[in-house]
Amino acid sequence: MANAAPSTPDTLPAWQALLRHAETQKQTPLKTLFERDVDGERFATFSRRVAGLTLDLSKQRWSGETLEQLLSLAREAGVPEAIEGLLSGRRVNKSEDRPALHTALRLPEGAELNVDGEDVAAAVHESLAQMEKLVERLHAGQWRGATGKPIQRVVNLGVGGSDLGPQMVTHALADFRPDDIHRLKVHFASTMDGSQLVDYLSRLDPETTLFVLSSKSFTTVDTLSNANTARDWLLSRLTRQGATPISPELVVRQHFIGVSACPEKMTQWGITPDHQLRFWEWVGGRYSLWGTIGLPIALVIGMANFRRLLAGAHAMDEHFSSAPLADNAPVMLALAGIWNVNFLDIRAHSILPYDGRLEYFSAYLEQLEMESNGKSVTRDGEPAGYSTCPVLWGQLGPNAQHAFYQLLHQGTQSVVCDFIAPLTRYDDVDDADTRRLLQSQHRLTLANCFAQSRLLMLGDDAIDDDAPRPAHKRYRGNQPSTTVLLDRLTPETLGSLIALYEHKVFVQAVIWDINPFDQWGVELGKQIAGQTQQILEGDATPEGMDASTRGLMEAFWTVGQK
Ligand code: F6P
Repeated sequence: MANAAPSTPDTLPAWQALLRHAETQKQTPLKTLFERDVDGERFATFSRRVAGLTLDLSKQRWSGETLEQLLSLAREAGVPEAIEGLLSGRRVNKSEDRPALHTALRLPEGAELNVDGEDVAAAVHESLAQMEKLVERLHAGQWRGATGKPIQRVVNLGVGGSDLGPQMVTHALADFRPDDIHRLKVHFASTMDGSQLVDYLSRLDPETTLFVLSSKSFTTVDTLSNANTARDWLLSRLTRQGATPISPELVVRQHFIGVSACPEKMTQWGITPDHQLRFWEWVGGRYSLWGTIGLPIALVIGMANFRRLLAGAHAMDEHFSSAPLADNAPVMLALAGIWNVNFLDIRAHSILPYDGRLEYFSAYLEQLEMESNGKSVTRDGEPAGYSTCPVLWGQLGPNAQHAFYQLLHQGTQSVVCDFIAPLTRYDDVDDADTRRLLQSQHRLTLANCFAQSRLLMLGDDAIDDDAPRPAHKRYRGNQPSTTVLLDRLTPETLGSLIALYEHKVFVQAVIWDINPFDQWGVELGKQIAGQTQQILEGDATPEGMDASTRGLMEAFWTVGQK
């Protein structure tokens, strides 16, 4: 008997129905959808409030009927069962045969989650308690460097998920730094070229600087190169100080903490076991800020606030697990994305926070979304015959208004935008005059945020003015957007916001039938870079290389290599 063709998402009845529905819906501009909404119900119909967030999806180019059909698609694709499988620890990461249990990292104390006979929730709380001890020692000024001085600067050496999440959250929540802690400054160095690290090395005092080596695999060359340079810098400066020589072992012991899922490799590198924080293979790198990889966050905002971040994410997990699909904010956000990518052919997505504290949010989401869902084979290894993750990029909205908004308003690409802003800000500023001015700046910012999504939607019709305009001054509008409003930016709402996007990515992966928890697409580049480095180091010849790469190498040998 011939094998039945594998069923792919685009063969599902709801997918087919959506294709037909899209033919008419594509002809209906956003402004018409709002004109048809005579009772002004569109906002109520397409917005959801959860965990301190308001999610407005009314400016998506969809109707009630579209949403109904998308919800059918979610059911046919097995989204409810998949959510259950994710949260209960099923082996959803098929290519690596393991669960993806980042949600376990934010389970409250006392919760239980048994996976393969182990209560992972208990293990998580043990690791948080160990992290808390290190944080307390550093905050109390009790962690001393090899020469006896208290540590004042911490440099996180990590890349990708071992850098972007901690950096984004640390920056976003810097206002939550507790007053009563020893003032540590935390820095981040990720790039393999050493340029960030070298800048810190030129400014920091080796006696009072500690490095955190953050690497799930502890094999990432970017991080290990920086770590080796940092170790050399410390050894050359500290072992030769003063009359009594200081041992290299003491320097490495007192100036490095390791965070990894591979304790043996940390030990091999020289990190003493009691300065090692561990996590598990079942936490994906880009989903790891919630555990020990979040050490820099806890160092900046304190452990109590770190736990508030976890509580916010957990609130979103609870909602994700229990809300019906039609009220489920991550599911709704995911469906809007599926609609845009697969039925309206909109494959560019811009993330635009209207709050300077969220400066690193889009960089963080770029990894979360594109490393998770930038895939083109299904979980069974079949080619996906439909589009998956869109190209995602972003910047602070107010600054982007003076940079790439021109393309959003008058370019040739359809782009969907996510606007993100807090509703309340600066009410805690003590000085009344400064508060008044800053709150006025906040209103200015919100006005711009709301105005931009309206203009992108309506185009020229956003203004009451029939004056004829030349073509170069016209705005066509019809660009869809989502707005996410935070009641205010707190550890809890930031936790909910990040979890909202994590779950959105998961739901989209389920519908696209791809594995969001592996990243094989980055592996070959690492291998080829290794071979290329051997040639640049003179340990191999460029024979067999293409003419372009040989030309680039020649340039290096002629101009670069002195
Ligand atoms: O190369 C990609 C990647 O593996 C990401 O998935 C990960 O977040 C990053 O590198 C860093 O990996 P590690 O934490 O193992 O150093």
